[in-house]
Amino acid sequence: MRQRFFFLCFLAQAVLIQSLSAQNQCVLCHATMGEDHEAILRAFEGDIHRQAGLSCHSCHGGDPEAADAGSAMDPSAGFRGAPSKKEMPQFCGRCHSDPKYMKSFNPSLPVDQELKYFTSNHGKRLKAGDANVAACADCHVAHSIRPAKDPLSSVHPKNVPQTCGHCHSDPVLMSAYHLPTDQLTKYSESVHGKALLEKGDSAAPACNTCHGNHGAVPPGVENIAHVCGMCHAQNEEYFKASPMAKAWETRKYHICATCHNHHDIRHPTTEVLSGETGVCKKCHSSDTAGFKTGTAMKEKLDQVEESYRETGGAILAAEERGMDVTDAKDLSDAARMGLYQARTAVHSFRVETVTEFADKSLEAAAKAKKAALDAVREFRWRRIGLGISTLLITALIILIYLKIKDLESSKK
Ligand code: HEC
Ligand code: HEC
Ligand code: HEC
Ligand code: HEC
Ligand code: HEC
Ligand code: HEC
Ligand code: HEC
Ligand code: HEC
Ligand code: HEC
Repeated sequence: MRQRFFFLCFLAQAVLIQSLSAQNQCVLCHATMGEDHEAILRAFEGDIHRQAGLSCHSCHGGDPEAADAGSAMDPSAGFRGAPSKKEMPQFCGRCHSDPKYMKSFNPSLPVDQELKYFTSNHGKRLKAGDANVAACADCHVAHSIRPAKDPLSSVHPKNVPQTCGHCHSDPVLMSAYHLPTDQLTKYSESVHGKALLEKGDSAAPACNTCHGNHGAVPPGVENIAHVCGMCHAQNEEYFKASPMAKAWETRKYHICATCHNHHDIRHPTTEVLSGETGVCKKCHSSDTAGFKTGTAMKEKLDQVEESYRETGGAILAAEERGMDVTDAKDLSDAARMGLYQARTAVHSFRVETVTEFADKSLEAAAKAKKAALDAVREFRWRRIGLGISTLLITALIILIYLKIKDLESSKK
């Protein structure tokens, strides 16, 4: 049994080496160098560079036909060894920044990664000699580099938070920079993290959606301020036209994160608007227009939510009695749409805008509720009708029976 296992392992290894090597001495020799090197070869099997027909020497240089270590890895044969972190961007950029070379493989692949990287905080610090930051192979993991769309890739959206968190959740590494280490935890519990990591909703952002892949500019308020609007465009439009927009711009408040935070974004309820515990109170004292606006919007939205909930209850009651509720459901959908629009309209910070959509929702909800209640009433009438007709039929049967009896006895 044991022997057979080892034989199979040996066979698998031999097939792997055969498929990688094709007379490549780099592979043949490194395959004999122990577990670490076998791991490189195993990982490389799925690497995009291997899929593109490249091999060890394409990155590391050297002579893949030479069987002895000295001449295979001779610097005069172009051997450049493994790059230090500082050398990494040029090591990868040798190909990835060369449009002519890259075009011959994949014309649609951008060739700006190295350029953009040096505009990021990571890149600027690397240039200044800081080896703690992320360079290409920290995010892309040498020897198992895969395109982002591959679920096994370290830069697949679902894996990005772990890839970044590897460093950003490390308190020892981050202490020198006075940066918090809670981004991964907070993000994972946020609406976005749950949507992407638990529900697999690819419309939700990962770290790099907000921070960029290569041009990860430091998230100053100016540069990352518009990132939420990429997806929540209507919210941003409302805000920009709101009475707060100008004052917030001069004060450099983040137009979204000030109320919603940036990593631990939760599902907001009307509690966010409510008097003493809400977010408006942070800047508006109780007797100001800002505070009163918040309270008025909360009242309106609470009313809409309640009426929508009641509608749902009425429709359920009609459905349970087997009634056709198609019309009521259509109206209820319209009510829900109005509720969503009213919630988004909060960002106009004008009561009228919220009211406009809220009233549409209330009207639709009222009609839906009436339709559902009518259906329940109709069900009752039908039951009474059914009862009466059953009684009538029974009475008729009895009458007929008596009549037959009567006829029979008169015959006798
Ligand atoms: C006959 C054996 C042999 C051949 C052929 C060979 N190597 Fe090596 N290689 C070695 C040994 C031994 C080391 C040193 C390992 C160590 O230090 O742990 C090494 C080290 C390396 C390293 C790490 C160097 C560093 O800076 O840490 C790289 C990269 C490398 N080889 C790539 C190649 C490439 C590419 C080829 C083919 C062009 C090749 N090797 C051919 C035996 C070989
Ligand atoms: C796409 C470019 C690329 C290809 C192709 C590639 N390597 Fe590497 N290799 C690297 C990088 C980058 C590093 C440095 C990794 C680091 O520092 O995290 C490295 C490091 C190494 C090292 C040093 C030990 C280590 O893991 O850091 C060895 C040995 C090595 N490579 C061997 C190989 C062999 C053998 C092949 C072919 C099967 C190969 N490489 C193919 C990019 C490549
Ligand atoms: C010898 C040239 C060369 C070097 C050096 C090189 N690459 Fe590549 N890389 C390629 C080619 C060719 C492709 C395949 C393009 C294609 O066919 O899609 C590729 C593909 C990729 C992809 C997948 C792109 C996609 O989404 O389709 C990533 C990511 C990548 N390389 C990262 C790196 C990193 C990180 C390094 C340095 C550690 C590196 N490369 C070094 C040539 C190179
Ligand atoms: C901070 C992490 C990080 C660093 C550092 C990094 N990348 Fe990337 N890279 C990513 C992410 C994330 C993606 C995936 C983007 C997506 O989802 O399409 C990516 C995508 C790519 C691609 C695919 C084409 C593209 O531009 O989207 C290539 C090629 C690439 N990176 C090469 C490099 C090279 C070369 C370097 C070093 C100069 C580098 N990367 C540094 C995170 C990083
Ligand atoms: C190899 C470790 C490492 C990895 C992986 C890494 N980072 Fe970083 N990052 C750092 C270090 C160290 C700094 C501190 C430099 C500084 O002070 O700005 C930093 C800085 C940053 C900053 C600037 C913070 C500020 O306010 O100065 C952002 C944003 C950032 N990283 C985002 C990311 C994202 C997004 C990813 C994943 C796609 C990522 N990082 C992957 C090490 C890493
Ligand atoms: C929805 C967008 C978004 C996502 C997703 C996101 N960030 Fe951020 N991040 C921000 C914003 C906005 C700021 C800037 C806050 C500021 O300027 O005060 C920020 C700030 C940062 C900082 C600076 C220090 C800090 O915590 O304020 C780091 C580091 C960082 N993010 C890393 C990450 C990592 C790692 C992930 C993934 C686990 C991530 N971010 C996901 C929007 C996002
Ligand atoms: C890549 C697109 C994208 C970006 C960028 C983005 N979001 Fe989201 N956001 C979503 C998606 C998708 C959902 C819905 C998640 C779900 O299914 O619950 C969502 C949900 C939300 C919710 C909860 C809505 C609710 O009704 O529960 C809030 C609040 C939110 N985002 C705020 C923000 C803020 C603030 C930013 C910027 C810091 C931001 N988003 C950036 C896509 C994005
Ligand atoms: C002054 C505080 C404040 C600011 C600034 C703010 N919001 Fe909101 N946001 C709220 C409140 C309050 C709600 C909850 C309304 C409710 O009761 O449902 C909300 C709800 C949301 C929702 C869920 C409702 C919907 O529209 O789907 C999203 C998404 C959202 N905000 C995104 C954003 C984005 C993006 C920005 C920046 C352009 C932003 N918010 C700016 C207070 C704010
Ligand atoms: C971070 C601080 C901050 C928060 C939080 C905030 N506001 Fe404001 N708001 C301002 C500033 C600054 C102005 C500009 C006028 C001023 O200086 O008072 C303003 C102006 C307004 C105005 C215009 C009327 C006026 O007084 O000039 C309304 C309405 C308003 N805010 C509503 C709200 C509502 C509703 C909330 C809660 C959902 C809220 N604000 C949360 C800072 C804030």
